[in-house]
Amino acid sequence: MITTDVQSARSFLSDEEFDQAFSEAQKAYQKVKDKSGAGSEWLGWRRILREPNDAELEKISSHAERIRKDADIFIVCGIGGSYTGAMAIIKALNPYFKNNGPEILYAGHHMSGKYLKQLMEYIQEPKENGEAKSVYLNAISKSGSTLETALAFRAIRTWMHNTYEDAADRIIATTGKEGGVMNKIVDEEGYQKYIIPDDIGGRFSVLTPVGLLPIAVAGIDIQTLYYGAVSEFEDREKDQETVLEYAALRYSFLKKGHVMDVITSFEPELLGFTAWIQQLLGESEGKEGKGMFPAMAGYSTDLHSIGQIIQEGQRNLMETVLVVQKPISDFSVESTDGEDVDQLEYLAGKSFHEINKSALDGTVQAHTEGGVPVLKINIEKLNAQQLGKLIYFYELFTAVYVYMLGVNPFNQPGVEGYKKAMYRLLGKK
Ligand code: PA5
Repeated sequence: MITTDVQSARSFLSDEEFDQAFSEAQKAYQKVKDKSGAGSEWLGWRRILREPNDAELEKISSHAERIRKDADIFIVCGIGGSYTGAMAIIKALNPYFKNNGPEILYAGHHMSGKYLKQLMEYIQEPKENGEAKSVYLNAISKSGSTLETALAFRAIRTWMHNTYEDAADRIIATTGKEGGVMNKIVDEEGYQKYIIPDDIGGRFSVLTPVGLLPIAVAGIDIQTLYYGAVSEFEDREKDQETVLEYAALRYSFLKKGHVMDVITSFEPELLGFTAWIQQLLGESEGKEGKGMFPAMAGYSTDLHSIGQIIQEGQRNLMETVLVVQKPISDFSVESTDGEDVDQLEYLAGKSFHEINKSALDGTVQAHTEGGVPVLKINIEKLNAQQLGKLIYFYELFTAVYVYMLGVNPFNQPGVEGYKKAMYRLLGKK
């Protein structure tokens, strides 16, 4: 099970404040459990873990294996919940400097013409041996009509049809069961299609084909990831204490004027995961004038930029740190045998994990003393199983905590605001 360390955070609350919030969290959890809260038709992210669809997992894995054998490049074309989860897991588990299989590129996640132009040029460049690159495209959009994704999809699929005779086999659409422009295109062109279940919203969809196909193409074992989430689900059905405690703490801090949560990790691979949490929380809680702003940061890098304001700026923050307890791969400081020109000999023999841990512990201590409550969320190791657990932990936490605020965690009416204004300016009929 995912564990937490709330020692710093608890020291900012009285027992009475905490107990009251905890009993609110229990009521909110009950709404998730008995499907009595707003938006309960969107609880499918629990259903899929209660009744895992092994046949679909197998289908995705073997499809991904076929793609991995042939592809040089796999483009994930989606935005928001339709790409953040896949990006988070791939960034967390794939090597920093070389590809474990096809190169994974992202498109449709913003509207930079420069980016799309360069991406199109890059995929057309021949390989070192002079051969053309083998490109696959996975367009992901539940609504099938999101502009950022649709524009990139149009450009890339047009190029693919002009380039490959078997373009229809290289283009995969992941979309809602029916309706939407993407479904119309899929029907006309005969692309392969994966369905996003009706009862799962974008930001809760990483364990559906939305996230699973790109993650599998990246060479990550999706069965292990998925069953990590299943085991966290099963454990949490029996014991929700940690999740409720976390929800009670965050809710209490919001009530006391902590309006921003800096979500961070000392492991750079987890920056994508903090972006996934940011999206999950931000779109779920920020409604009706409520919610805490989920900021993201990467430590210790950002201790040298926003560290100052966290330590001594306005006291309206809290901090959440994702902690990896055991390293899978590490590096140690070498001894220079007596010489100590750079004055680092006191660290000789220590691993970077140990040094990084001192940076973490020192930061928690300093920020706590500076008036910032810090919550630590622990995973044992950075692997697929633990990340699967962390996904469900955060999904459940988000639902419980957002119900405490009295809003529907599963809709995002505010996102329509910019779309309406943009379409008006673009003259869309
Ligand atoms: O969480 C959500 O629902 C959103 O972030 C969507 O995933 C995002 O807006 C993309 O929508 P769609 O998949 O319909 O293109």
